[in-house]
Amino acid sequence: MIELTNITKTFSGKQGDIHALKDVSLSVGKGEIYGVIGYSGAGKSTLIRCVNLLEQPDQGSVKVNDVELTTLKAGKLRETRSHIGMIFQGFNLLKTATVYDNIAIPLKLTGLDKQAVKERVQKYLDIVGLAGKHDAYPSELSGGQKQRVAIARALSHEPEVLLSDEATSALDPDTTEAILDLLLRINKELGITILLITHEMNVIQRICDRVAVMENGEVIEEGNTKDIFIAPQQRTTKRFVNSLFSHDIPDDLVDRLSENGQVAKLSFFGESSGDPALALVTKKYNIYPNILSGSITRIKEEAFGQLLVHFKGEQAEINDAFQFLQDQQVHVEGVTFDGENQRVS
Ligand SMILES: Nc1ncnc2c1ncn2[C@@H]1O[C@H](COP(=O)(O)OP(=O)(O)OP(=O)(O)O)[C@@H](O)[C@H]1O
Ligand SMILES: [Mg+2]
Repeated sequence: MIELTNITKTFSGKQGDIHALKDVSLSVGKGEIYGVIGYSGAGKSTLIRCVNLLEQPDQGSVKVNDVELTTLKAGKLRETRSHIGMIFQGFNLLKTATVYDNIAIPLKLTGLDKQAVKERVQKYLDIVGLAGKHDAYPSELSGGQKQRVAIARALSHEPEVLLSDEATSALDPDTTEAILDLLLRINKELGITILLITHEMNVIQRICDRVAVMENGEVIEEGNTKDIFIAPQQRTTKRFVNSLFSHDIPDDLVDRLSENGQVAKLSFFGESSGDPALALVTKKYNIYPNILSGSITRIKEEAFGQLLVHFKGEQAEINDAFQFLQDQQVHVEGVTFDGENQRVS
């Protein structure tokens, strides 16, 4: 659906060149929710702006629905862009226009007749749950309601792709949840492909099927959200994952634990697969597991659990036990300590 190949973008500034994108390739399938995460300045906005050519890449190919955008003439590009909706952190609503007009004005510009415009506005305000707010002005709406208007405005052009640049970053946690639920519903019910960028791992966790991690203008890691949560490879990816699942242990415990046995992080999918596996392991092997911390949450719609466990026993027994756990679909990762914080080795 979206195919970015070898995208390069450099900005020339007073302090020299900024290589915002360095040879980035990314592919988003039809109907997918794809997240790009990275810290500030990583190049996320530049990347997403290349998808609808708000930013013209210096090099590389941008294909949406098999159409190469970089070589399109202005008129054709405008038409292709109309199939790509976009929402932003700042909502970008017209302050002097009502909710109705915020959606209706751009629709009228596409040449749609008055009745059709009215029906579209109605339909999409209904979908975002703001049917009663036709005549309100943006200043009379909460942040979440403003973002709903912006989403309705984007959807009213019936796009196949929705691009989201930090759409929930200005919202409180509850409102963020509600907007993410809305994006999930839009994806499921309208079949719209969503490419979103964020610096918040909980956004990825809640709705994304796949994720790419960006740093310094490059994609440093990419994969299914589940796989990335279970076994992040790069340091930055680990930091993002740990931002949601931090298992801090008091310093005095750290010393004692390190001397005596092995600490491991167990990750598993499914409501209860971790517990029974751990119970079985104590029966089969001469080891004593002690749960230090644990959490269970959801990744998209699936339960995802993590346990930090201290295993006491002979190292050979512990190794066999780890192998057994892996065979039970529990991902096991040894944990070492660096003095201040627990670190997954
Ligand atoms: N129009 C521009 N002119 C010059 N430099 C730019 C321009 N747009 C972006 N940059 C630079 O390119 C780099 C990537 O910026 P970008 O906005 O893509 O980052 P980001 O990942 O979206 O960050 P944030 O999370 O803060 O929004 C930054 O160093 C930024 O200063
Ligand atoms: Mg940005």
